[in-house]
Amino acid sequence: MNRMQTVDSSQIEFNFAAYIKERRQLIENKLAHCLDGKIPDNLWDSMRYSVLSGGKRLRALLCLASAEAIIGLDEDLEAFLPLCCAIEMIHAMSLIHDDLPALDNDDYRRGKLTNHKVFGEAIALLAGDALLMLAIETLIEKTPKTIDSGLLLDIVRQLCQATGAPGMVGGQVLDLAFTGKLTDLQNSNASDQKIKADTIETIHRGKTGALIKFAVRSGASLAGANSKQLTLLEDFADKLGYAFQIADDLLDSTGNLITLGKTPGKDQASCKVTWVTVFGEKQALEKLQNLEKEGMAILNSSELAGHNTAPLKELLKYAINRTN
Ligand code: IPE
Ligand code: IPE
Ligand code: MG
Ligand code: MG
Ligand code: MG
Repeated sequence: MNRMQTVDSSQIEFNFAAYIKERRQLIENKLAHCLDGKIPDNLWDSMRYSVLSGGKRLRALLCLASAEAIIGLDEDLEAFLPLCCAIEMIHAMSLIHDDLPALDNDDYRRGKLTNHKVFGEAIALLAGDALLMLAIETLIEKTPKTIDSGLLLDIVRQLCQATGAPGMVGGQVLDLAFTGKLTDLQNSNASDQKIKADTIETIHRGKTGALIKFAVRSGASLAGANSKQLTLLEDFADKLGYAFQIADDLLDSTGNLITLGKTPGKDQASCKVTWVTVFGEKQALEKLQNLEKEGMAILNSSELAGHNTAPLKELLKYAINRTN
């Protein structure tokens, strides 16, 4: 018998832990490089404090995984790292601002004091502003010049939309507009279940979904995906983004400060409108199961057959089942 058999790659078990460890290291190194040695110290220290303080790097991982669904596993990812850094900088900005007293007024983030608790509100606000611009600068300046400039410009335009009024910032405004209105919504007519669900979905899609969707779309787009592939991956990201925020809402109600790295119980205390505060934990879990099924179905569709979707599948499960 010939012992030199060819290896069927589909039979090799995908090692998700090793996959994210390796890619997180690439992302961390690039982020540290982008924020290295700049002055004035208090501003850059504040920026470094929030960007380089861990975090799951889920958005950057999604960007890489989406690119790898198109180019295949174990290709050189250097060209995608400036995009990943831009996304993580914008995410860090959103967290700094989200924690400010004018928004959620939180004291802990990623197991440490929030940015404004350490640097003061003025510097925290300005560090967020600076990170926003550094993100755009990094994306434009550090993306390899071999990338088509029209494509890069389109990605920058999409990033602006995902972050600004049509996306995250708009979603945050809606989140705040509904904060304190929980009882009104809970007391509204029971036949209004759909209205309640739609309200939550609109808030979540904006404040959280938009950047996640951008991460998935832009990674694939930079990797040369065609419009059909982009549409499918965007639909997948839509499910994942929504599920990610519902999981966050669940963790707020079930988690603890040590594992979560942020104060739990804040959503109920501040009467935030979330899937959990409106429909309860049981329904939130059911909703998560449905979103997972829908997301998996998209990745298993015939149009994506033969693509390397294992990392995206694992990231969907991770987004839903995580403990922080
Ligand atoms: C927290 O995002 C903010 C939300 C949109 C729920 P993450 O849970 O991804 O935060 P880090 O980056 O891992 O700390
Ligand atoms: C945050 O949502 C969304 C953004 C930062 C854009 P949450 O307010 O629920 O996030 P946490 O719970 O503070 O991380
Ligand atoms: Mg918030
Ligand atoms: Mg918050
Ligand atoms: Mg939350």
